[in-house]
Amino acid sequence: MKAVVLVGGEGTRLRPLTFTTPKPLLPVANQVFLERQLSWLAAHGVDEVALSLGYLPDAFRARFPEGRFVDGANREVRLVYAVEPVPLGTAGAVRFAAEHLGVGERIVVCNGDVLTGLDLGALVSFHDGRQAEATIHLARVDDPSAFGVVPTFADGEVKAFVEKPPRGAAPTDWINAGTYVLEPSILERIPAGLCVSIERETFPRLLEQRGRLFAMPSDAYWIDIGTPDQYLQVHADLLAGRLGPCPVPGAHEAAPGIWIQGDATPEGLGAPVLVGPDCRIEGDARVSGSVLGAAVRVAPGAVVAQSVLHDDVTVAAGARVRDSIIGTGAVIGADAEVVDRSIVGANAVVELGGCLVRARRPATAAPATSP
Ligand code: GDD
Ligand code: MG
Repeated sequence: MKAVVLVGGEGTRLRPLTFTTPKPLLPVANQVFLERQLSWLAAHGVDEVALSLGYLPDAFRARFPEGRFVDGANREVRLVYAVEPVPLGTAGAVRFAAEHLGVGERIVVCNGDVLTGLDLGALVSFHDGRQAEATIHLARVDDPSAFGVVPTFADGEVKAFVEKPPRGAAPTDWINAGTYVLEPSILERIPAGLCVSIERETFPRLLEQRGRLFAMPSDAYWIDIGTPDQYLQVHADLLAGRLGPCPVPGAHEAAPGIWIQGDATPEGLGAPVLVGPDCRIEGDARVSGSVLGAAVRVAPGAVVAQSVLHDDVTVAAGARVRDSIIGTGAVIGADAEVVDRSIVGANAVVELGGCLVRARRPATAAPATSP
């Protein structure tokens, strides 16, 4: 089976991290997110993937060379790149990438920021059983206003596709989870070379034209990692074992809930926690509810809680990091405080005694960006 993974977005909601690292190349529990997604596709029988992108293509090529990808379980996927000259939107990009795959057959399409335990085979069977032209995976969320909302009839036929309705106006809590099975007839409906949104144009138009659009609800684990809250949440979920006992392949559990890559000892660590290789937790420093990448240094008296620190971060003596994301190589100065879902970009420095608190958006603010 062939798949297109949409990885062309700029990841604006995760800036400044995504100024240097595109969202799908950010680590999630110390494994590059796209590697998790490609492994998931390979595990479900996908053997060829087109990476559909335009933003920072060299970063992708450096980490995932064109040709083939082999996952930790030795499953192999052929990788091709479809680099858009300008962003073509979620449907335009699928059409463009499908041309690179040379397909005249059914494809799977995934948003490149979705982590799920969905049984992809079950989605394909559901699609076959209904002779659908397109089938959408649905997940249930508390606040559907940030997503595509998809009410269905009892047999799964889609009634409507409403992208990001105003808060409180959504007809259901079931949302587009960003994985689709598409027949070639859908690709023919997407005009070539134009910027087209699958959510705002292709699916609503398919319904108007009485095409066979279905959706399958699933209770499998699902998250979109594209906002600071969700990026922190996926780490909390992996530490809590919601996607399997071990948060990252190769880590060992040194004590209950204390996962270590490499040979650090559990001193100073409070479960749940994942510590990458070559980290140093010095003196009376404390790290809990967090993920540390490789070669992170937490100096005496510092506290790290409910946070994600990428590789080579330094947290100097007496500093506090709570509910925040710290990019590769950043330095949190002595006695500084970084709290409240702040994001510190790669190689940034929070000066000695500095304080970083994320500005809150008013509760009535419109949803951020749309695809
Ligand atoms: N190649 C390419 N070109 N990819 C794109 C483009 C483009 O022009 N625009 C967006 N993408 C990619 C992004 O990189 C991301 O992987 C995916 O398309 C979806 O874009 P997001 O910006 O993350 O959209 P969203 O999260 O606001 O909403 C989408 O996902 C929700 C589920 O997480 C929509 O599909 C919603 O309907 C859905 O509920
Ligand atoms: Mg998204």
